[in-house]
Amino acid sequence: MEPLDLNRMPVHLAVIMDGNGRWAQQRMLKRVVGHQRGAETVKMVVEQASQLGIKYLTLFAFSSENWSRPALEVRALMALLKKYIRQETARMMRKNIRYNVIGNRSDLPDDVNETLDSAISQTAGNTGMVLTLALSYGGRQELSAAAARVARDVLAGTLSPDAITTEVFGSYLDTGGLPDPDFLIRTSGEMRISNFLLWQLAYTELYFTETNWPDFTINELHKALADFQSRERRFGKTSDQISKGATY
Ligand code: IPE
Ligand code: IPE
Ligand code: MG
Repeated sequence: MEPLDLNRMPVHLAVIMDGNGRWAQQRMLKRVVGHQRGAETVKMVVEQASQLGIKYLTLFAFSSENWSRPALEVRALMALLKKYIRQETARMMRKNIRYNVIGNRSDLPDDVNETLDSAISQTAGNTGMVLTLALSYGGRQELSAAAARVARDVLAGTLSPDAITTEVFGSYLDTGGLPDPDFLIRTSGEMRISNFLLWQLAYTELYFTETNWPDFTINELHKALADFQSRERRFGKTSDQISKGATY
């Protein structure tokens, strides 16, 4: 396995878990079997990320646009989500992991919301990794909802338009309180963002692999993290400024 510097881990790792359906179809299996296998990869990545000292892990589990899939697949995904949360909450307690959800929760079925509420409140006191599930999440939807909240506060007189800095606007997003992702992994060979964290990914390092999510292994995760550690993040500055720590 790639040697990793535990002092240079991304603080916030985000993942677009893609390729479950193709993984299954390539094996003449139903797409839902791919999702079931994908849930096993989720367990591995959550466990590894928490062990490696990553503070925030955000997983794109279901997009706003995924509601347009066949009803049978949507139902199967919701059932799988509920089963996963129920099964894993005890492990989250053992590993000191805290659940968080971003996305439009009012779209989710009541039973899923109840399961989420219970998992969130049970793990609320945990101080280790924050595991954020993006559910019924879309970046544009999040941004327009945030703009509406900003507008309401301006109308109510509690916010001045002059006070709307990037920090203030960011605090109106679902991710308010989370740092921006340092590293984004997308599996299955697709090289797009698919409406994920549009605002927050401004300076995120991107990593794409051909591997479908159910086949994504510990070794691949370590390879991706080693790649992250080899990069120079410049945030608009020159390479000299970064390597010399100069502030000119
Ligand atoms: C990712 O796998 C899981 C979700 C989007 C819910 P897909 O279901 O998108 O798999 P492909 O892209 O069709 O192979
Ligand atoms: C993105 O994957 C959403 C999730 C991983 C949950 P999709 O499979 O829905 O994305 P597109 O449609 O290929 O862009
Ligand atoms: Mg896909």
